[in-house]
Amino acid sequence: MSGPNGMLYGGDEIGALVFDPGHHSLRVGYAQEDTPKADIPAVVGVGPATHIPDSEEKVPDGNVTQTGTKAGSELRHYIDVTELHVPRPGMEVQTYMKDGQVDNWDLFEKMLDYCYTKVIRSPSEHHPALFTEAVWTSRPAREKLAELLFEKYQAPAFFLVKNAVLCAFANGKSTALVVDAGASQTSAVPVIDGYALVSAAVRSPIGGDHLAAQAKNLLNTMHVQMLPVYSIQSKEVIRERERARYTLKTLPAGLTHSWQQYMLKRQYEDFCHCIAHVSESAYDERVAATVPGVHYEFPGGYHQDFGVERFKMAECLFEQSLGAPHLGNTKT
Ligand SMILES: Nc1ncnc2c1ncn2[C@@H]1O[C@H](COP(=O)(O)OP(=O)(O)OP(=O)(O)O)[C@@H](O)[C@H]1O
Ligand SMILES: [Mg+2]
Repeated sequence: MSGPNGMLYGGDEIGALVFDPGHHSLRVGYAQEDTPKADIPAVVGVGPATHIPDSEEKVPDGNVTQTGTKAGSELRHYIDVTELHVPRPGMEVQTYMKDGQVDNWDLFEKMLDYCYTKVIRSPSEHHPALFTEAVWTSRPAREKLAELLFEKYQAPAFFLVKNAVLCAFANGKSTALVVDAGASQTSAVPVIDGYALVSAAVRSPIGGDHLAAQAKNLLNTMHVQMLPVYSIQSKEVIRERERARYTLKTLPAGLTHSWQQYMLKRQYEDFCHCIAHVSESAYDERVAATVPGVHYEFPGGYHQDFGVERFKMAECLFEQSLGAPHLGNTKT
């Protein structure tokens, strides 16, 4: 079947795009490729345009020139790590996701604009779009997305698929029980012959974010300070467990709480990625103590080995007495 713009539906070469929005990041790329083109943090920095440290700007002859800060009071949106991780006075970090689905459509539109102009770099009307959605996505949210894609982005074709179905498909199964541990929650969804059984799906608010919070608690109880990486000017090489020696940067005044918390969360996540480990058998402190530790250096220069703590941190995901709420039905 042939679609608009001479594309071939049912064939491979239609340049279809896949968008996979999540609480942690949005993955976007071409349908034919194995990996996404970009994995963009699912937050948008919103700040006054007046404070952009816009020091480098190209002039028509191709030279880079120094300019002052821009005038004007309109808000600017900062998307993706290179824009977002710069300390900017007054920039608040906001998310467009809530409860597994898109909630703030204005911010999400900014994110889609970014995807088309900076990642795909091709007009949206040339590419059919496939979006993934959580099984419990509400009807108004699905309608709003379809409206946005057809009316604003003029997509030639648009399709919504449950992420559990795609996950089963990616593993070559049409029937599967898909357990998805994301950032904001973990869900278990039965898929039968390519259909997700929504009423049988269960979810728990335990995921990567909970693990990062757990890491924060652990470091607090161990009195290890997680200094923000953007605040460190220089640090000295020190011995293990020795007191950190560093100098701090002078930061611009007016950095927002939401931005500072976001940056710290990224650091706690990095700590989890490097350190957290799941015990292969039921957790036993004596067995855990025999496993070699892993070394971690904090932004201030302090470094030490982590042994049993690695397992303790992840144990909260399995042990209800350690704070993991029971899986709840999606309807409750
Ligand atoms: N190696 C790792 N060890 C521990 N946690 C990890 C690791 N890699 C990724 N994560 C965590 O997984 C989460 C991201 O997972 P995923 O991309 O599935 O979430 P999402 O789809 O964006 O969110 P959600 O499904 O909640 O909407 C983050 O919290 C991240 O910190
Ligand atoms: Mg997810």
